[in-house]
Amino acid sequence: MNENIAGLREFNLTDLVSIRDLTKEQILFVLKKASEIEAMPKEDKKSLLEGKTIASLFFEPSTRTRLSFETAIQNLGGKVIGFAEAGASSAKKGESLSDSIKTISNYSDLIILRHYLEGAARRAAEVSTKPVINAGDGSNQHPTQTLLDLYTIQKQFKKLNNLRIGFIGDLKYGRTVHSLVQALSFFNPELCFVSPDILRIPEYIKEELTEKHINFIETNQLTDYLPELDLLYVTRIQRERFPEPLDYERVKNAFILGRELLDKASPALKIMHPLPRVNEIKPELDSFPGSIYFEQAANGIPVREALLALLINAKKVNE
Ligand code: CP
Repeated sequence: MNENIAGLREFNLTDLVSIRDLTKEQILFVLKKASEIEAMPKEDKKSLLEGKTIASLFFEPSTRTRLSFETAIQNLGGKVIGFAEAGASSAKKGESLSDSIKTISNYSDLIILRHYLEGAARRAAEVSTKPVINAGDGSNQHPTQTLLDLYTIQKQFKKLNNLRIGFIGDLKYGRTVHSLVQALSFFNPELCFVSPDILRIPEYIKEELTEKHINFIETNQLTDYLPELDLLYVTRIQRERFPEPLDYERVKNAFILGRELLDKASPALKIMHPLPRVNEIKPELDSFPGSIYFEQAANGIPVREALLALLINAKKVNE
């Protein structure tokens, strides 16, 4: 047990596969720990992962998630093993994910996994003797992105409750949207989903919102709702997930946001984006004070530091 992490016992989580694995209290606990870790002197953090080896397994491309995790591991005094593309692993020779995970859990104290298949992280958690963190599985979930998104929202608004939030772009394949909407349902938001018809948010998420009495609307026009929004969460159209390339061509430029957006928005509007962006936010919006997407990406470090420190000592029943 790491004495530098107060409340570790209460956190009581062995893997982070889906944001739905976390209660509201656990989410708030991670955000609190991230804030504490961010305020810690560099030297005090160095012992949190001392002597620990973390496997960073990326079967899909990544810039922010992989590098912020690896920075976090180094900041906490841990060591990283792993690969940044599946082609550099024995997956290329036909090894199953389960066999890879069983092997790598003998080499490491925790596994971070990004994979192109929905459900890959859940399968990995089932066979791993060490904690598994989902760093994105297909178009399903991206829970660590959600935690850094919430951390960013909390820092900006000094609250998480009762915000009016628009989501625009690829709401069908965007795993960051799915995880974040599920987490926000703890905080009584009003939600506006803006997308082309073929990229609407999945039915199961709408059903969950309805069950929780969360107000939401769906539209393919942002303009009418923009003045009401506190936050606009913009997403990339996920070309790599489209089964039919022509469908991507039809919608790839559906929303391209530039300065004109600000004419109709509240002056207090914040704009977030999980990044990478393609063309959906013009660079001219980067200097708008409400554009906080690079700050959002920076928040990946304290949030991932907190998660690593919390999960590294988790005891799994199959250990
Ligand atoms: N937001 C996010 O997951 O970015 P990367 O794909 O660069 O990791």
